[in-house]
Amino acid sequence: MPNKRMQRRDFIKAAALGTAGFIVYPSSRVLGANDRVRVGVIGFGARATELVTQVLALPSAELVAVADVYTRRLDAAKHLSSSVRTFDDHRHLLEAKDIDAVIVASPLHIHCRHFLDALAAGKDLYSEKTMTWSIAEADKCLAAAKGTDRIVQVGLQHESSGSLADARKWIGDGMVGKVTHVHSWMSRNTPHGKGQWVRQVPPDCNAQNVNWKAFLNGRPDRAFDPNKFVNWRLFWEFSGGNVTENMVHQIAWIITALDLQLPTAAYMSGGVFSEKDGREVPDTIAVTLDYPNDIAVTWQSTFSNSHYGLGEHILGSDGTIEHTAGETDMVTGRSPNTIRYYPEKVNRPAGAALTGESQDQNHMANFIDCVRTRKQPNAPVEIGHRSAVAAHMANIAYRRKQRVTLEMAKTAVDLS
Ligand SMILES: NC(=O)c1ccc[n+]([C@@H]2O[C@H](COP(=O)([O-])OP(=O)(O)OC[C@H]3O[C@@H](n4cnc5c(N)ncnc54)[C@H](O)[C@@H]3O)[C@@H](O)[C@H]2O)c1
Repeated sequence: MPNKRMQRRDFIKAAALGTAGFIVYPSSRVLGANDRVRVGVIGFGARATELVTQVLALPSAELVAVADVYTRRLDAAKHLSSSVRTFDDHRHLLEAKDIDAVIVASPLHIHCRHFLDALAAGKDLYSEKTMTWSIAEADKCLAAAKGTDRIVQVGLQHESSGSLADARKWIGDGMVGKVTHVHSWMSRNTPHGKGQWVRQVPPDCNAQNVNWKAFLNGRPDRAFDPNKFVNWRLFWEFSGGNVTENMVHQIAWIITALDLQLPTAAYMSGGVFSEKDGREVPDTIAVTLDYPNDIAVTWQSTFSNSHYGLGEHILGSDGTIEHTAGETDMVTGRSPNTIRYYPEKVNRPAGAALTGESQDQNHMANFIDCVRTRKQPNAPVEIGHRSAVAAHMANIAYRRKQRVTLEMAKTAVDLS
């Protein structure tokens, strides 16, 4: 319990500064069977718009408030429903007592701050992936979550997939044998002249309508840069590139399927080969992650060829798991998704090929359900942490152009 003399406002301020330790306010209420979970959103951009649609589709949840630093986004929230309250500072949203759970869908470099502040304010939390921008931040968020009884779901929706349930079953039943290698990939393409991820800057995106300092979140101050504000994904200061945008989904899936911990080492090569538009983060990537107990995981990605979609091959002495999705669309989940098992005849001569049949779960519904039942969600903070560390190790290796061990990565100065 917090020091009773400490006022809630002071406490949130302290939490924002990272001085509050792991003390949290208790949840504002115990949810009854008929109560709806009252949701607030921090960062109401493209992803949050999709997540809010998911929330609004659930009878057990309602949207009550949105915080953003850009007036255009607050206007969009008001258009959604006149009853939605809007805030230009996330701390004011967190002070609201009528909010049970918070969705964080801000740019990557602000996740940690929003994560810690939300927990310190006693809110349950759905935090978009990647959980944090750096390893040090991932450690902080893990520790903070472990020091509370708040529910944390990370926006790694592949953790709620039927394919993961199938893979875990086949592996758990011993049908795959000893796994030494997992091969995974993700590929996209865009029409000539159109860069992957590039967004148009809206005409009203200017220093009057954006709280640029709040966006910078402690990065060196400078004049307002609308391109960096809108296309933050392309720059290391705010992003981790496709490793934190997409590898993180697949690495979390692999980590959970095989119950992997942290990598012992990482290497990543590639470069800005196809999207020569001034971006810093690479478009062509080959990652190798070494895991304890003799498992190597590779992930390959390109932005100039989408033929193979995305997938994972788990290669075992007794069988193979092949998970593929023809056309990459992790955002809407429209892509055809299949998972198959093939026995290795040398070790399982009587084994039969199988096709997975488990249904996907609704990742957002799983979060709202866990807010009510206080059960562990499908993508808990530990998976958020392990997948974030793996992603950051790969990026550190890329930027240093050397193989990086976990120890080296943990002591690496943040490369922004
Ligand atoms: N799980 C998925 O499949 C998936 C898909 C897409 C994006 N994402 C993740 O969602 C997050 C957001 O991505 P996006 O494409 O929606 O970005 P976006 O730029 O469209 O939206 C970010 C929003 O945050 C706001 N913002 C910036 N600084 C803020 C601050 N200090 N406080 C409050 N709001 C602030 C911006 O004004 C903007 O509206 C990223 O972490 C991204 O990786 C996840």
